[in-house]
Order: sequence, then C-alpha cells, then structure tokens
Amino acid sequence: MAETNLSIDDFIVPLFVRDGISEPEPISSMPGVVRFPVEYLPKVVQSHVELGLKQFILFGVPSYKDDIASSAYARDGVIQRSLRLLKETFGESVLLYADECTDEYTSHGHCGIVKRQEKGYRVDNDESLKVHATIALSQAEAGADVVAPSSMMDGVVGAIRKALDENGFQETLIMAYSAKYASSFYSPFRDAAFSRPAFGDRRSYQMDPRNSSEALREVELDIEEGADIVMVKPAHTYLDVLRRVKESFPEYPLAAYHVSGEYSLLKAAALNGWIDEKSAVLEVTTAIRRAGADLIITYYAEQLAKWLREGV
Ligand code: PBG
Repeated sequence: MAETNLSIDDFIVPLFVRDGISEPEPISSMPGVVRFPVEYLPKVVQSHVELGLKQFILFGVPSYKDDIASSAYARDGVIQRSLRLLKETFGESVLLYADECTDEYTSHGHCGIVKRQEKGYRVDNDESLKVHATIALSQAEAGADVVAPSSMMDGVVGAIRKALDENGFQETLIMAYSAKYASSFYSPFRDAAFSRPAFGDRRSYQMDPRNSSEALREVELDIEEGADIVMVKPAHTYLDVLRRVKESFPEYPLAAYHVSGEYSLLKAAALNGWIDEKSAVLEVTTAIRRAGADLIITYYAEQLAKWLREGV
C-alpha cells in the first residue's frame, strides 16, 4: 500500500574529480566521500554501474584558478578529460551530468565574473553569461549528456541553450539549478571543492530561504529559457518548495539535491551512534521523493543502492 517508493533509477551520484592527485583523498567534513583522480573514474563508475546506478554528476577541482575560470573550459580541463574518458568507456550506458559553474575554477570563488567597483565588488550577471555558455559548450563537446548550470545567474539557461543549439548540440539536455537557496548546508561541499568565496557571500544571486513563491518564478523562467530538468536545492530543508514546484510544473522532471551539509548531519549522527543510519537515510530520502522529486542527487546513492538491493 506504500504511496512512495525509492528506486535506484532515481539517484544521481555526485563525484568529485581532482587534477594532479594520484590517490583518492578523503574529505574530512564529509566522511565516506572522496575526491578521485581522473584515472580512477572508470573503476569507480563501473562499481556503481554494477549496483544499478547509471547517472553521475561530475564536479571538478582544477589544477589552477584565475579570475575568468579558464580551467573550467580548457579542452584538457579536469572535467573535459573525465567526460571523454567515461564516454569512451561506457558510451550510452551511463548518463553524465556536468555541473556548470565558475566557483571551483576562480581565485575569488564566485559563480560568475567579478567586477571591482568603488565600494567593494559586484558579480556582473551579463558578463558572466558568456563564460557560462563557453563552459557548457566545452562540456557538451567533451561528452556531457546533461549540463547543469548551478550559478543562479539570470538568463544562464537561455544563454547555454543558444550556444548548444548553434553548435550542433541540440540533443544535450539542461538540468537547471532553478531554485538554489543561499544555504549554510553547502559548507562541506566548499571544503570538498575548495570553492569557498574569497570575499562576500552568494546572497546576491542565490535565493533567500524565506521565499518560496520566488522559487516558482525561477523555475518558470528556466523552463521558458529551455531547461529540460529543474531543481530545488537543498532538498531536506526545502521539502515544501519541492512540493510546490511539482504541483505547479507536474510535466517537468524535478530534481532535488540532498546537499553536502544535509549528508554530513546524518553521517555525523550515525557515526556517533545517535541515529540508525540506514533507517534515517531511507526515511529522509523517501521524504524527498514523497515531496515530489523525480531525481535525487545524493552522496548516499551508493549506500542506498546497496540497501535497496538487500531489500528494505
Ligand atoms: C556551485 C555548487 C555548489 C554546490 C553544488 N554546485 C556550492 C555553492 O553554491 O557554494 C553545493 C552542493 C553541496 O553542498 O552538496 N558550483
């Protein structure tokens, strides 16, 4: 009689790939999650595929950073090499998403191009669109099935769709981080990706946690601009937003990102013996699904796949 079921097909596995390392590196604020060298990816993806997981989203940690994120669109960039290697190895049997942003690739750590002004600085939205379109195109050329703009710049989905279409990538999908909140729960990710902003914060472009109708407007705009999949992020803290988006746009695939801090909360409590990890993680993930998510990006994907295969 269960109204909600979890399936391995719902999960997207986040993978951190770092240039210039030869062994996987643990991330201290995310126990159980590591950064991989590019060469490890085929083995890592193969072990996930054997569990039935087929969707992967890649985050790059580059060997150099500058003000214009050039390592994010370099032909031999860490994500471009990873995508090429995985497409050569797995072809169409996996779906590869590329997170598209500049924060991991810029010295300032912001999701766009930063302009200095008299008082402080400003992230220049329209100037940033060009670099986001360039990054997305280079990811599509390297083999991404889905590009996933996570910058929250206004107009980024339209700019990417145009660049992809004009260059023969009409088939490449866009998963838009449409309703991405300025959240405290990204902190462990910023350790993992070394992407903590050098100054300021992201509140001028990410959403205010007090708003939910605004999320509907953000989703609507992204759909008009050509998004194929829309997203609410974080997930566990924004179940009401997930539900509203699903009810307003039932015909669009809805992704939810169970983010790093939400993962680490569960992990820390489990490691302390304060909760039962399996039942707690299944409960939270089911709640995200029940709220309306069709796809769930989760650092627990591998573990969930194992639990679901055991039969829960
Ligand atoms: C930006 C990006 C972030 C996350 C995914 N893409 C970080 C941010 O906005 O600071 C966070 C994901 C997580 O916390 O798990 N490229």
